[in-house]
Amino acid sequence: MSTVTLAPSAFATLFLLFTVIPLSTTAVLDAYYYDQRCPQADKIILETVRNASMHDPKVPARILRMFFHDCFVRGCDASVLLDSTPGNKAEKDGPPNISLRSFYVIDDAKAKLEPACPQTVSCADIIAIAARDVVVLTGGPYWNVLKGRKDGRVSKAAETTNLPAPSLNVTQLIRSFAKRGLGTKDLVALSGGHTLGFSHCSSFEARLRNFSSTNDVDPSLNDVLAENLRKKCLKPNRDANAGEFLDSTSSIFDNDYFIQLVAGMGVFESDQSLFSDYRTRWIVESFARDEGLFFREFTTSMLKLGNVGALEDGEVRLNCRVPN
Ligand code: HEM
Ligand SMILES: *[C@@H]1O[C@H](CO)[C@@H](O)[C@H](O)[C@H]1NC(C)=O
Ligand SMILES: *[C@@H]1O[C@H](CO)[C@@H](O)[C@H](O)[C@H]1NC(C)=O
Ligand SMILES: *[C@@H]1O[C@H](CO)[C@@H](O)[C@H](O)[C@H]1NC(C)=O
Ligand SMILES: *[C@@H]1O[C@H](CO)[C@@H](O)[C@H](O)[C@H]1NC(C)=O
Repeated sequence: MSTVTLAPSAFATLFLLFTVIPLSTTAVLDAYYYDQRCPQADKIILETVRNASMHDPKVPARILRMFFHDCFVRGCDASVLLDSTPGNKAEKDGPPNISLRSFYVIDDAKAKLEPACPQTVSCADIIAIAARDVVVLTGGPYWNVLKGRKDGRVSKAAETTNLPAPSLNVTQLIRSFAKRGLGTKDLVALSGGHTLGFSHCSSFEARLRNFSSTNDVDPSLNDVLAENLRKKCLKPNRDANAGEFLDSTSSIFDNDYFIQLVAGMGVFESDQSLFSDYRTRWIVESFARDEGLFFREFTTSMLKLGNVGALEDGEVRLNCRVPN
């Protein structure tokens, strides 16, 4: 272990740095934030999410993905929830909108929270709590969500191009996560979110034909899965909803996603690339072997994801679709 010794002048510089740079835009989050302000908040959100998930089993995956998108574009500020206006196309109407749905669940929770605790619970916190709830409801780990985010006032469709694409390789994925202060372990653990849900053909069909000058089909894709996906996606009049589940147990939060990667059964190039590269392969293997380890690391990484760009200088929206 190495020790860094600082000259007195270095101390002075550090002191100046920490006192002069305004840190006010980043909220310090707190697990007990609503304990006094709105003790019913957790229960109201859980009941809403549970009821919605019972009526529509697609809800858990959609809420989990919504949290990821929110945090990766402008930080976790509920920008993903704002509706487009005549003068502005919002994130939710940007290119990867194809499975960003079920916003009504957040609206329902907000509609119950406002009469209970007026203008207290931010939409950004509702998404973060709901994302934890859907993980628990589908069999995954529980964690204490940190709260106290404020809602932003800006949402731009053009900014969704900052989201990682399913065609990225490990180097590009690592860079995309590093921009948000997330490390390689966070990348692998959070990609485990693909233990839930579904993808449309458009997100992975480039792997199925004309993949590269040397391979018609992506060579990292398992042959049996490739044949299956080709049958579903490469037909003339395919249904707009055609696609594949991201994991063989797509409504259960478990470590099957990682077991599938080891077998070459990852649906996206981005998924499968985690097993092709030495920097991430050992982490995939350790999660495939040990579900408890995956659950612990997923929890830690979700807390980190929830801190990305958490706003202090924002507002608590009355309606999650429009700024106050
Ligand atoms: C590592 C980079 C990631 C990429 C490239 C990526 C890409 C995608 C794509 C392309 C889809 C399918 C969209 C469609 O065709 O319908 C998808 C679905 C999904 N993603 Fe990711 N994702 C990433 C990370 C994450 C993270 C960190 C989470 C959450 C922790 C997550 C959760 C989900 C879920 C739950 C679905 C299924 C949605 C549904 O069934 O409606 N993803 N992702
Ligand atoms: C439960 O969910 C259904 C379907 O979304 C909805 O119509 C109903 O109002 C919800 N009930 C409660 C108590 O939230
Ligand atoms: C999704 O994005 C595409 C491309 O930007 C756009 O044409 C389409 O209208 C959007 N769809 C929805 C439901 O927002
Ligand atoms: C990943 O993509 C980048 C940019 O396209 C490329 O330079 C790199 O060689 C690729 N491969 C790996 C394994 O990172
Ligand atoms: C593959 O790519 C070539 C050249 O870009 C194109 O001529 C051909 O039609 C493509 N084949 C398929 C099956 O899309």
